[in-house]
Amino acid sequence: MFEPRPIIALDFPDMASVKRFLSHFPSDEKLYLKVGMELFYACGPEIVTYLKEQGHSVFLDLKLHDIPNTVESAMRVLAKLKVDMINVHAAGGVEMMRAARRGFGHEGILIAVTQLTSTTEKAMQADQNIQTSLVDSVQHYAQKTAEADLDGVVCSAQEVAVIKEATTAGFLCLTPGIRPKGSSVGDQKRVMSPQEARAIGSNFIVVGRPIIQAEDPLGAYHAIKTAWNA
Ligand code: C5P
Repeated sequence: MFEPRPIIALDFPDMASVKRFLSHFPSDEKLYLKVGMELFYACGPEIVTYLKEQGHSVFLDLKLHDIPNTVESAMRVLAKLKVDMINVHAAGGVEMMRAARRGFGHEGILIAVTQLTSTTEKAMQADQNIQTSLVDSVQHYAQKTAEADLDGVVCSAQEVAVIKEATTAGFLCLTPGIRPKGSSVGDQKRVMSPQEARAIGSNFIVVGRPIIQAEDPLGAYHAIKTAWNA
């Protein structure tokens, strides 16, 4: 059976660093890789083409947020890259998310960011003037995401249960902020181990520094993959 793979965040500034990192892996090890704004803006669409040519799966983490027409057109262009997963900000609204779906189609997974995990409740209330709890806001955005026919959301692992409750069990939750037991937390505020994330129903985990900054990236990846599948 196909084993679920942790998604590795390729938080690198250029292609050379990506190639150096990937050289730690045997060529038949097919990975699920996250390309974020830094790498995409530095390298352009060629980075996605390159990774897909190597047989890897790609989550393009560009968090689109604009008027529906612009998001639809952008998604139509990005869909041509055959990415496996892509995302938008739920704050763009249901109409924008429906436009994203029209542009991207149904070939890959389309998810939305609810509240960024860097946003505290206090900051949300002060900056966005949303006078509810953070969890209520996350739940609300998850419901709007489901209403717009998207596949799921990016969320903190702590929010998975309330999101599934507000939507359906099949609604996907992708969770960053994952740390193997005993490893360095970095700037992530609330972390969970791969085993814990699995137990609370997370569908995908995103792991960056514990793998890309490891002395032995291949070993770190396999340890996290094993824990995730335990
Ligand atoms: O190094 P680390 O494992 O913390 O990396 C997590 C990755 O997930 C980074 O690329 C970060 O930008 C991303 N991310 C996150 N929290 C979110 C959305 C994305 O940490 N809410």
